[in-house]
Amino acid sequence: MSRKIAVAVVGLGIGSDHITEAYVKHRDKFGLVRICDTNPSLLERARKEFGARETCVDFAEVLADPDVEVVDICTPPFTHHQMILQSLAAGKSVICEKPLVGSLKEVDEIIRKEGRSAGRVMPIFQMRYGTGIAQARALIESGIIGKPQIASIETMWNRPPEYYQVPWRAKWKTELGGVLTSQAIHAHDLLTHLMGPVRSVFARTDNRQYDMEIEDTLSATVLLESGVPASMTATVASADEITRLRLVFEHVTMESDHSPYNPGGAPWRILVRKDSIVSDVDRIVSETKENEQGFAGQLLAYYDTFIENTEHPVTLQDARASIELATAMHFSSRIGSEVVLPIGKQHPYYSGWAI
Ligand SMILES: NC(=O)c1ccc[n+]([C@@H]2O[C@H](COP(=O)([O-])OP(=O)(O)OC[C@H]3O[C@@H](n4cnc5c(N)ncnc54)[C@H](O)[C@@H]3O)[C@@H](O)[C@H]2O)c1
Repeated sequence: MSRKIAVAVVGLGIGSDHITEAYVKHRDKFGLVRICDTNPSLLERARKEFGARETCVDFAEVLADPDVEVVDICTPPFTHHQMILQSLAAGKSVICEKPLVGSLKEVDEIIRKEGRSAGRVMPIFQMRYGTGIAQARALIESGIIGKPQIASIETMWNRPPEYYQVPWRAKWKTELGGVLTSQAIHAHDLLTHLMGPVRSVFARTDNRQYDMEIEDTLSATVLLESGVPASMTATVASADEITRLRLVFEHVTMESDHSPYNPGGAPWRILVRKDSIVSDVDRIVSETKENEQGFAGQLLAYYDTFIENTEHPVTLQDARASIELATAMHFSSRIGSEVVLPIGKQHPYYSGWAI
């Protein structure tokens, strides 16, 4: 029997999906030793459904539980920073939902404190897992598809007014941001995951659909370190929901599945414009499959790196890159001109854009 990682899940919104899709499904690898939520009725329902050994409404009990190895933080964004630091101080490892935190200053603090803790941190970016994205990655890594030319990234989602009635949503202080960090963060991570880091950005953000503090609209043009230009659009007002990545290389164009919450899952459309590579492309595509997608995919990959003490499949540097991009986009929109990365410690938005 394989060694089980003892996990506590904190927050039973999306945290319930982590449990059903990964921890319960893979009971041979994970032991759900504790669940925590400030809402006692949610906690009771989850205890019956998932059979966690212990439950609590107070996060301090998670930290004090010697059986807990990994704290999986699935609470609202404004709680992440302190919960991560407290978990690391208690010697626990951490898995944390997006957005990890609301500023580069906070990520850098976490990176520093992780270096002094027995615990390690893995941010969640579950959309990296699935057959479609694995095939795209394999084609890029093969080098046969030629030079990258351009990319177009759309996060066209629909959030009704009720969505923003949840008390922590729609406010800088608690949600930390709008469509950039709550919705489009996944597709933007997929772009940099597949095509590399960002050099500069010009962005317009606005709240056009709803009268609220945080942004619900993004139009941006990004230049990657490779010189590749990419356009990004995002809204919460789309009548139907799609996430779409269209990546154009010299010899091959790849377009993601349009599934809004799992664009990496199903096979992508692979269009070849050079006859001599068709059979190699077909072979790479047919040989590349991923058994698990989404949370299960990421958490199974996590299992191996946790046991072997190797680099996690998603790192703090990955989360930092996504927060740096959001910072640059917010600042660009504010000053109305291009922002060149990196965002240094002296930058007015290093401590956050919610000012
Ligand atoms: N990766 C994804 O696809 C994805 C999808 C949805 C949400 N999220 C992220 O997950 C996080 C939670 O979002 P959600 O939609 O599940 O929110 P939610 O409001 O539905 O659930 C959060 C839960 O946390 C509990 N909670 C709040 N403060 C707590 C505390 N101090 N201690 C213990 N429990 C506490 C609440 O009672 C609630 O049950 C956010 O950061 C969000 O951005 C990620």
